[in-house]
Amino acid sequence: MLSQELNDTISRVGPGSKAGAVLRRYWQPAALAVELDLERPVVPVTLLGERLVLFRNEDGELGLIGRHCPHRGADLCFGRLEDNGLRCPFHGWHFDRSGQCVEQPGEPEGSRMHENIRARNYPVVEKNGIIFAYMGPGEPPEFPAFDCFTAPDTHVFAFKGLWECNWLQAMEVGIDPAHASFLHRFLQDEDPSEGYGKQFRDRAANTEIPMTKLLRDYPRPEINVEETDFGLRLISLRHLDDGRTHVRVTNQVFPEAIVIPMSNEMTITQWHVPIDDENCYWYSMFTSYGAPVNKEVMWEQRVKEHRLPDFAPLKNKRNNYGFDPSEQRTMTYTGMGLDINVHDQWAVESMGPIQDRTDEHLGRTDVAIIRYRRMLRAAIEKVAEGSAEGLPMTNGDTASIRGPIAIDAIAPGDAWTDVWRESDAKRRAACAWDASL
Ligand code: FES
Ligand SMILES: [Fe+2]
Repeated sequence: MLSQELNDTISRVGPGSKAGAVLRRYWQPAALAVELDLERPVVPVTLLGERLVLFRNEDGELGLIGRHCPHRGADLCFGRLEDNGLRCPFHGWHFDRSGQCVEQPGEPEGSRMHENIRARNYPVVEKNGIIFAYMGPGEPPEFPAFDCFTAPDTHVFAFKGLWECNWLQAMEVGIDPAHASFLHRFLQDEDPSEGYGKQFRDRAANTEIPMTKLLRDYPRPEINVEETDFGLRLISLRHLDDGRTHVRVTNQVFPEAIVIPMSNEMTITQWHVPIDDENCYWYSMFTSYGAPVNKEVMWEQRVKEHRLPDFAPLKNKRNNYGFDPSEQRTMTYTGMGLDINVHDQWAVESMGPIQDRTDEHLGRTDVAIIRYRRMLRAAIEKVAEGSAEGLPMTNGDTASIRGPIAIDAIAPGDAWTDVWRESDAKRRAACAWDASL
């Protein structure tokens, strides 16, 4: 249980907040690149409680600037995209992608006032389908050499979805390895060969056991947590009745991402990005070590469950997430269909806009959540003192951080320590792109 003050400190992220100051030290997903595939590539972006506008100018370069015109505050999302920048329709002030005002056509001839006018602006970079923004002080950190960034575009698919709750409770579901045995339980197993593009539908590692059966039959994982240079590594062990050990390796990438296996050939890197204190987007990069990703199938699977352009899920709290009591009795643990994203969404949204952590009771399976909150609190203290030194992923050698390894593996007996690294090395050695660590 936390005090109300501590809960506010670790969850709130608007300008001037302490956790917000930590998140601002890292690149944040701001939009999917496909969102700008428009005749007029201008979209509103709200990130960490700040209202912004993202656009692509005629040179194809991206700009992310404050949404309200520095003149008298009109909404630049309605700006005229022209002359390689954005022009406010109210009085014609014109801004380039750095937010610099370059023209004030209504001011007296020869006026140089514009030289001192600049809209708030943040650097942006596009990586394999996601546009990232840096909203912190000084120079942005380097990107780590994670698989999702180093894999070719053909092997990565990106998508996002809206969850109506605070980012922290959304992230915490991703470092809770026990919930998969309950929340995502299927009372019957599908044919794993039909599971392309879906999580937990493959066979467990190199066995014939469907992942759904393994999770159902072994609901008490032993969870080990290690600190790494990027955050936390979680190793969840399920000791099978036949003496074998199922090992599942997942990761927390500081501050608000997770990297988990999706199937035997794909991993998911997923950020839980605050829109504001009570809403967040999950952004996922699905990375394949095997065949190129079938983007059409993965887009269709996901887009049919969401409303565009805001990627709000069609199943949500206003329609009880499609809850069906007879399905709950016979097919799924939740009664909310087969899409595990909906299960997670219900779990985190039903806690309320910001989970009341003054009234929670963490158990042994919450060990990674406890460790993560400790890391976040340490980072909050450091950044509040004005230093980012020693924060995970900003140790000056960020570009050398690779992987991280996210995999399911089976050890023949109890000796599981090396088996997951060996399985991963085999997968990387056979990979068509350079996935070496
Ligand atoms: S409010 Fe934008 S130009 Fe006047
Ligand atoms: Fe989940």
